[in-house]
Amino acid sequence: MARKKIGIMTTGGDCSGLNTVIQRVVDGCVRRKWDILGIQDGTDGLSSIPAKTVDLTNETFQFASSHLAGSILANGNAHVTNFESAARSGKLSAFNKKLQKSLKELNLDALVLIGGNGSLSLAHLYNEIYNGLQLVCIPKTIDMDVPLTDKTVGFDTAVQQLVSYCDQLLLTARSHHRWFVVQTMGRDCGQLALHAGVAVGADAIIIPEIKFDVNNLVKHIKQSKRDYGIIIVSESISIRGHSGKPAEMISRQLTAAGITNKPAFPEYIQRAGDTTADDRILAAGFAETALTAIENNETNVMTVVQNGEYKTISLNEFFAAGKQQKDPNIVGAMTSNAYVEPDSVLLQIATDMGIYIGEKRK
Ligand code: F6P
Repeated sequence: MARKKIGIMTTGGDCSGLNTVIQRVVDGCVRRKWDILGIQDGTDGLSSIPAKTVDLTNETFQFASSHLAGSILANGNAHVTNFESAARSGKLSAFNKKLQKSLKELNLDALVLIGGNGSLSLAHLYNEIYNGLQLVCIPKTIDMDVPLTDKTVGFDTAVQQLVSYCDQLLLTARSHHRWFVVQTMGRDCGQLALHAGVAVGADAIIIPEIKFDVNNLVKHIKQSKRDYGIIIVSESISIRGHSGKPAEMISRQLTAAGITNKPAFPEYIQRAGDTTADDRILAAGFAETALTAIENNETNVMTVVQNGEYKTISLNEFFAAGKQQKDPNIVGAMTSNAYVEPDSVLLQIATDMGIYIGEKRK
């Protein structure tokens, strides 16, 4: 096979596991005698003149640290030029053209794009950017809101981070006879909260997909006959007539009902932490699947794992399979989203464990 030139970039928010994906893709390219170019700072780096890149083919940086979180290619900072900032200033189409021009100048045969459901949706919607090269995407996100794949890179580590956090909180909770209301990330998808809550053995898990009743939550906590424990709350739940962070809203309600408690915010440590074995295996599976797809001349595809089988699906399929929502940051753009399904096995397990998971599925 002719020598190929592959580009690789990370877009959107970071999560643990990105460096393992990068390492496995680089290893695979070196084995195939392909060149591999890292694009730095996501779309910001790609739209810079010249594009910010690093040749990874003969990379000597120590992959011994590829289990560390973050991305060695970086995802950009808050002030970067990206789809959102370009859309805000009304320059989205010029920005897209710039990306297309940069990619052409880099003269790549294929691009491995590691992104969440927002980035994957944009890759589908603004596909002309990638004209003339093979686009192969790898799904990563701690939110696990990407349709048609059972796993996304970074999710398992995020769950593990929450479990470690809650395990430690429980010790101080017991000492001080108090409950903790732990707010997880996840955007409007409850998967992260649900998985962490079941793993921890929380007393309640409140997620956006299921309506809940504060009075029943209070009743449930009181019935436990304990004076300490963990309530898990996903970041985008709301309570009518109340404002503030979800964990604070619930905390105030519990206090009013006589339950001693504090809200707690693990925040960005959910995106950090050493990559778990499960995420590393996923990274390896996705990297090899992506490189095989390139060998097979596939384009506009993403890697997925379904019932243990690694394969690619088209970005069209991905986009059509999810619930399409307006992109909150880009006028006219839509994102394809997955949520906790009413028939989720894990919801049933949580119910069987006696965890309060709310009332009615929305
Ligand atoms: O999508 C990943 C995620 O970590 C969400 O769970 C969270 O709501 C969001 O990103 C935070 O984004 P930012 O880095 O912009 O604060």
